[in-house]
Amino acid sequence: MKKILVVLAHPNYKDSVINRKLIEQVKTLEHVTVSDLYTKYPDGKININAEQKLIVEHDLVVLQFPFYWFNTTPLMKQWIDEVFSYNFAYGPDGDKLHGKDVMLCITIGSDKERYINQVGFTLSDLLKPFEYSAKYCNAIYHQPFVVATVNKVDDGFHTEAKLYAQFLTNYGLKGCNAFVDDYPSF
Ligand SMILES: Cc1cc2nc3c(=O)[nH]c(=O)nc-3n(C[C@H](O)[C@H](O)[C@H](O)COP(=O)(O)O)c2cc1C
Repeated sequence: MKKILVVLAHPNYKDSVINRKLIEQVKTLEHVTVSDLYTKYPDGKININAEQKLIVEHDLVVLQFPFYWFNTTPLMKQWIDEVFSYNFAYGPDGDKLHGKDVMLCITIGSDKERYINQVGFTLSDLLKPFEYSAKYCNAIYHQPFVVATVNKVDDGFHTEAKLYAQFLTNYGLKGCNAFVDDYPSF
């Protein structure tokens, strides 16, 4: 079974609806490790060696966060700055992300169509820094899993959470072949 690291960075998890639902659905999967940064590092002092070890031990790294001001949350940004370091993620000896699967799981306040029709930038445009950062480290960046607060099924995000768990299960079994061009629309 392939191993998955879900790095979660929600600054206000106690009031979270969607991220909480997603995490509750996947945290019991045996091949999935959930690393909740705001719980682990309330003082913002990241254990870089421990985080790098986690990355090395897993095949897929999922960065999960609520989209805040068209960006990631502060501790996730700090985590990337400190953990994707010289001679670990890039530089002459920095090969630890080479060939590693990386994807985002983000939750957004509106819906995907609004980004396309009103914002003037697609989500894919806004997420380019993540895509290029992965490429810079020779990781394999995959299509993000996006859940909008304006959900269409209205079952408390149960459908989305089940799809997320299903995808992570498929990845465990099939690796890269589990990735699809787009996830079902929600
Ligand atoms: C400070 C802040 C900034 C936000 N910025 C955005 C944004 O730029 N784009 C967006 O779609 N939603 C934005 N939102 C909405 C959140 O993304 C949304 O409430 C969150 O993803 C829902 O997930 P949760 O239930 O796990 O908190 C913002 C929310 C907050 C609190």
